[in-house]
Amino acid sequence: MSVNIVVKDMGLDYAIRGGGRKGGKLTALDGVSLEVKQGEFLSVVGPSGCGKSTLLYILAGLIRKSRGTVLINGREITGPALDRGIVMQGYALFPWRTVQRNVEFGLEVKGTPKAARRRKALEYLESVGLSDFAQRYPYELSGGMKQRVAIVRALAYDPDILLMDEPFAAVDEQTREMLHEELLRIWEATHKTIIFVTHSIDEAVFLSDRVAVMSAGPGAIKRIIDVNLRRPRAGGAVKASVDFSVLRNRVWRLLQNMPDSEREGAAPADSDISDVISDSATL
Ligand SMILES: Nc1ncnc2c1ncn2[C@@H]1O[C@H](COP(=O)(O)OP(=O)(O)OP(=O)(O)O)[C@@H](O)[C@H]1O
Ligand SMILES: [Mg+2]
Repeated sequence: MSVNIVVKDMGLDYAIRGGGRKGGKLTALDGVSLEVKQGEFLSVVGPSGCGKSTLLYILAGLIRKSRGTVLINGREITGPALDRGIVMQGYALFPWRTVQRNVEFGLEVKGTPKAARRRKALEYLESVGLSDFAQRYPYELSGGMKQRVAIVRALAYDPDILLMDEPFAAVDEQTREMLHEELLRIWEATHKTIIFVTHSIDEAVFLSDRVAVMSAGPGAIKRIIDVNLRRPRAGGAVKASVDFSVLRNRVWRLLQNMPDSEREGAAPADSDISDVISDSATL
């Protein structure tokens, strides 16, 4: 498989105000290096504020790196483009468009004819159980429904790379499992490259080929864990397996700043990062 995304010694400083100082900056990311192969599913976990969203925004072309290298298929990123789709943290739907027209957005930019656009949008809405809501506006939907619209809006125009920022944070457990299956099905059928930010260790391990564990202050990639679980992964059997617990425990230990351990150990009862990190107000 060819390398799709190359990040090397990359850093990002935000300009900040306050403290009476001019020209202050906050280093959100520093020395970030990462390679993602074409068609790979990579999850990113790390404490709140470690720069996960910032990394996705840079890859999406929404903000510019301050230093280092970021290449997509060998080329520098110059801005947003239709080869990348982003599902932003907190949905970011267009409030003035109906659900259907939100999903049609990327297809419109691509120049897809109206009838085909409509068909595709409805097909995707159907796949997440929202075809009855096609003519509603975002304010009429629940948080989890908005989240699903944001996901299919990013999928509908078929980008090569999907950047997903906690896309399932607002959905209930049952819907989340349904969306996991749907996402894996689409990923397996289309060979997209997916970078998936999450606060759930279980979700990261279950979905991914690799899990990148980040540390904060400034944000950097601490370790990348290979997930060698067989695919296709059927929910119950995989999650009940010893291999799954061992991987989950490794990620959990890294997040707790405990030494990495290859050996088998008791997995935490609840492996959501909110239990591990005290600074988790956003969860
Ligand atoms: N526009 C901005 N201006 C200044 N600082 C920012 C800006 N956006 C983010 N930051 C800071 O950069 C750091 C990284 O933020 P980012 O949103 O990337 O973290 P995150 O890992 O996605 O956190 P979370 O898990 O809470 O979503 C934080 O310290 C944050 O305060
Ligand atoms: Mg974030």
